[in-house]
Amino acid sequence: MQPKFPYEPWRVTEHGFSARDLRENESVFALGNGFIGLRGNLEEGCATGAETIQGSFLNGVFDSEPIVYGEKAYGYAKNHETICNVMDAKSLVLTADGERLDMGASEITDHSRILDMRAGTLTRSFIWKAKSGAVLACEFARLVCLEREELAATRAIINCVSGSARLFIESAVAPAVIAEGDPNDPRNAAGKDRSLAISRLFADGPVLAMEQKTKNSGYTIACAVQHRGLEGQSETKEKSAVWTAEVKLNAGESLRLDKSVCYAAARYDEDPALLTRTIEQAKAAPDFDTLLKEQRAALDAFWAVAGVEIEGDDALLQGLRFNLFHLFQSAGRDGRRNIAAKGLTGEGYEGHTFWDTEAYILPVFIHTDPALARKLLEYRYAILPNARARARELGHPKGALYAWRTIDGEECSAYFPAGTAQYHIDGDIAHAICDYYDATGDLDFMAKCGAEILVETARLYYDLGFFSAAKGGQFVLNCVTGPDEYNVMVNNNVYTNCVAEENFRSAGEMMELLRLNCPEDYARLCDSTGFEPSEAEAWRKAADLMYYPDAVDGIYPQDDDFLNRKPWPLDTIPAEKHPLLIHYHGLTIYRHMVCKQADLILAMTQYGECWTLEEKRKNFFFYDKVTTHDSSLSMAVFSILANEIGEVGIGYDYFMSSARLDLDDMHHNTKDGLHMANMAGTWTGLVRGFGGMRNRKGRLSFAPVCPPQWQGYAFCVRYRGRTIRVHVTAEGAEYKLLEGEPITVYDHGDALELN
Ligand code: BGC
Repeated sequence: MQPKFPYEPWRVTEHGFSARDLRENESVFALGNGFIGLRGNLEEGCATGAETIQGSFLNGVFDSEPIVYGEKAYGYAKNHETICNVMDAKSLVLTADGERLDMGASEITDHSRILDMRAGTLTRSFIWKAKSGAVLACEFARLVCLEREELAATRAIINCVSGSARLFIESAVAPAVIAEGDPNDPRNAAGKDRSLAISRLFADGPVLAMEQKTKNSGYTIACAVQHRGLEGQSETKEKSAVWTAEVKLNAGESLRLDKSVCYAAARYDEDPALLTRTIEQAKAAPDFDTLLKEQRAALDAFWAVAGVEIEGDDALLQGLRFNLFHLFQSAGRDGRRNIAAKGLTGEGYEGHTFWDTEAYILPVFIHTDPALARKLLEYRYAILPNARARARELGHPKGALYAWRTIDGEECSAYFPAGTAQYHIDGDIAHAICDYYDATGDLDFMAKCGAEILVETARLYYDLGFFSAAKGGQFVLNCVTGPDEYNVMVNNNVYTNCVAEENFRSAGEMMELLRLNCPEDYARLCDSTGFEPSEAEAWRKAADLMYYPDAVDGIYPQDDDFLNRKPWPLDTIPAEKHPLLIHYHGLTIYRHMVCKQADLILAMTQYGECWTLEEKRKNFFFYDKVTTHDSSLSMAVFSILANEIGEVGIGYDYFMSSARLDLDDMHHNTKDGLHMANMAGTWTGLVRGFGGMRNRKGRLSFAPVCPPQWQGYAFCVRYRGRTIRVHVTAEGAEYKLLEGEPITVYDHGDALELN
């Protein structure tokens, strides 16, 4: 069977046009730059016979509305936040001698779309045989500038191959046409009115503009478009601004039209000149060729470190690069915007940020683009006030509790058992901060943001738990939900206790480090947070006495009662009943011994030193049998542990099932957006799984293995100012210091000096 996309190392190409796949391909072909995100919608609009999900997003720009509960109780999340599908400016409608271009109705040949991951462009070409007899070769190119937050651009070239045609071209800025999500799928925002009001429209010669306002969240959104290359006319209509041009093309003649599209957003009327400024930006935008060069340079720099290699598996290589490309496109870069579970590629999970960022995505950026990693962590600092307020609301007199899912910091999870109860989010953030510090030594970040977060999250855990007489005076954390959402409100979830223990230790250690190295920052922090060294003492004691449920016959329960739940052999559950969460009541799921995703297995990869290899092996096989992997976050983690216990074959199978998850639409919901955490997990699967990379307290080690299916593979990691390239084959690994001072790394425990 032909693969849907040919296996090319740097491109994803759709040959022909498949109406059936249009919606998922719109996610695959999405472009973004951390602020603007454009789904890969066809310029001329949906094809007859196909379904489309139109989307233009601005990272962090959302509307909110009160959550309506049938039965409301104290402390429930109050508002939905949903990423806005803002005005669309991608459109270019073509009419030839009165016939409108339509992929489903026009006579089209040689259609192809190419996502070029080095050029950072989406291009499209086809031949249109118009009913009037003219044959037109059409090309479109689109990019969202990685170097210019506000700017996207499109180029259209139409060449009359034979005959002649009177072409009518219409370009508009118009409100998004919003597709309804499936009301029975909790991962979608269905049933809400998500339209935005138009507050201003503008048309003047080659320039169109529109301003929209959100209903409740106080955002003003501006979009301006500049047309170049063709003379046209513009006008405002009731709900759009439209530019049109008419051109007669004879055989051999061609036309070229360039569109520069600028977006901006401001909250609470903080920028009254937003629309005017956006119009000026569109007018002053550099030409398309300049943007192409800039785009290429930005991606060359990214790939120089992030560009993995796989020798002997082009499909996999394409999948991995595709994943990295989309992560890079979706990550906020300004310290106020984060990365949503679906990035900027779709409306699944309403544009919310979860623990996905810290537990899955940050490891990638920490080791490939630490400056970007810092920006993502700064976002957590920006919303620390919300986390403090939420902790008070939940009855914690001290500390901060981060929202399980949010855009601007407010808790948006309406279902608290699988939402707010996931107290591990605090520890995930704390862990990521420690990992970032270990990899960069960035004391400035710790002094400005990191240490304060560690202190507040440690305080939260200290208040949440207690020294339990029933557990011999050990420190317990009860009534929490771990990462595995099929076991909710449990006592002593091992993963949560692990991240809390690390948080307790690191908060005290970091404050001590600041006291010694940055006394002024230390004094300021003591002052602003009321931190006392005696707190660190208490945290250390809680860490030392952290309780973990004992193993039964070698099996570590992932929480106090896990082994006491009713068995539910996975082979007795029909395939069509997955994912369980949309086919069974929560109560059915929660009483059974079944996992949605990696939980204890994740703890074993993240805190590997706490278990012996034999323990990891035994528990891997046990949890392997009870885990449905209904979350896309699961398989990459199983792959990493499988490699560690020497089960390279199993590691390989898990890895392969996650590496092309979106390209091959394995979860049948790629149309709602790409799975960012899984995409990041595949990089980690390669680097930490097969490469065996671990970093802790200044020590960088590797334990590479090469699956027999590949001739070799290579990746780079950044660590403490160095860039190290690791190339692995069946014969062993070769390490090369590409940048930075000499460093000692470890290969299967042996020290190697890299110069
Ligand atoms: C997973 C969570 C994850 C969320 C967003 C859920 O299905 O269980 O762990 O944070 O998806 O990706």
